[in-house]
Amino acid sequence: MMKFVILCFSLSNTLVEGSTNLFDGYKKRSGLIADVPAAILSNEVEFPLVGLGVGNLQSDRVENMIYEGLKGENRIRLFDTSQVAGVDNEIIQGIKSGTKRFKEADGIDDRVQVHLVTKIRHTYLGYERTKFAVKSILQTYSPVLKDSNIDFRIHFLIHHPRCIDSVDGMDCEKDEDELPGKVKRVGSAPHLGDGDAWKESWRALEDLYSSDDYPAISSIGVSNFSVEEMDELLGLSRVKPHLVQMNISSLIEDTTLVDRCKMHDTHIVVFNVMEHIVMRAAGTPRAFKSVALTGDALSNGRNAANPGQIILKWLTQNGISIIPRTHDLDHLSENSVGALARLSDISSNANIVLQKAVEAIHMGVDLDEDPRVQMSFYASDGDIFLYRYKENLADQTYVAYVGKGNSAKIWVNPNDTFRVYNAYDPKLFKDYVLLEHDGDDRHIAVGSL
Ligand SMILES: *[C@@H]1O[C@H](CO)[C@@H](O)[C@H](O)[C@H]1NC(C)=O
Ligand SMILES: *[C@@H]1O[C@H](CO)[C@@H](O)[C@H](O)[C@H]1NC(C)=O
Ligand SMILES: *[C@@H]1O[C@H](CO)[C@@H](O)[C@H](O)[C@H]1NC(C)=O
Repeated sequence: MMKFVILCFSLSNTLVEGSTNLFDGYKKRSGLIADVPAAILSNEVEFPLVGLGVGNLQSDRVENMIYEGLKGENRIRLFDTSQVAGVDNEIIQGIKSGTKRFKEADGIDDRVQVHLVTKIRHTYLGYERTKFAVKSILQTYSPVLKDSNIDFRIHFLIHHPRCIDSVDGMDCEKDEDELPGKVKRVGSAPHLGDGDAWKESWRALEDLYSSDDYPAISSIGVSNFSVEEMDELLGLSRVKPHLVQMNISSLIEDTTLVDRCKMHDTHIVVFNVMEHIVMRAAGTPRAFKSVALTGDALSNGRNAANPGQIILKWLTQNGISIIPRTHDLDHLSENSVGALARLSDISSNANIVLQKAVEAIHMGVDLDEDPRVQMSFYASDGDIFLYRYKENLADQTYVAYVGKGNSAKIWVNPNDTFRVYNAYDPKLFKDYVLLEHDGDDRHIAVGSL
């Protein structure tokens, strides 16, 4: 016998109103590289969703972080650096030793696919200088390219469209002066030109990418480009950028830039998630709590996920690649492929709730109220199984077993739907949906089924 119970609370909830999903229209084709979730780029190359930023680490930590990242449950196959970081030798050592150990430990015969994103420094803008930079980077990585354990893929981005003295770490004249003579002779100083050197760099990347001589170049893209520069680039390119890197603030705020990516099937890689969102979250306590509470729902009965993991899960589930950087082994494993895979999927309701919370943290304007309500299901008359629906009835996830006389407490988003089964007869069940709520906790005595 089935009963249908609807809990309809008062309609004070404004949370969902008017919110458009940030990721609507963003192409999401997903692939797998062995057991590592990946996005599929517009050129059909598979690109890992979870990476590790190593370019800004202290150089003596780089090798070990890569070594640890590659191993077992961490399953990290994407590393992000830049030409200016100058840690290529450490990266090479880390990739070589890490893949060797991983293959031995897991008894794997196939080559291990490893991806590297690197970015051409502003001093190497212009056709000849960019070509020179790419070729010398490929030369530097020849020990990995030749390693029979490794299927090495490299992605080249233009780091910045131009040198700007006011940007941290840039000093146009000094940077030019300090270049080796052989680089200076290759092409003219980009900062003295009309600011269009990046267009010539793009032409160089296109030529190298399209040439049969450089099969290791898997894709090309840009970083730190404004929407105006993206439009110019899209207008003149023969090969459209496969990848764009931006900080999390741009992802949330710069909707025109994100729209261009959607329109041209450009894959987005975000950085600064921890710095710009997670570490600032305490300034907006209700938004922070809203993120933290989602952890309960995703943790599958294990320790609740931390807010950083939830936001990373949210991004990767929506097809965005992430490259958090850390030199801490615990954080490395918390933000790894294995740890994020252990969390259950974010429901479409929670997806909207999370977006609102992240926007609130980003803007420093707290949410009006907590979007969640705590519900407890009390098994008054017999043992029950509690399931949560995802998108439809066929897609249920197990939440809890509750013995007679006990209750399960869970955090619930508006419109979350639950099904409670008699533990001994799955034909007997009841459905509950929390339509809207007034912020109060709810207690449900399930009764007889
Ligand atoms: C994010 O990137 C944009 C574009 O490069 C930049 O203007 C902005 O200042 C960055 N945001 C932060 C918080 O660093
Ligand atoms: C440019 O991008 C890099 C990462 O790609 C980032 O570390 C840097 O802060 C960005 N610079 C600006 C000016 O946005
Ligand atoms: C909940 O359902 C109602 C009615 O179908 C809908 O208007 C509302 O947008 C939904 N809320 C969420 C969070 O999906």
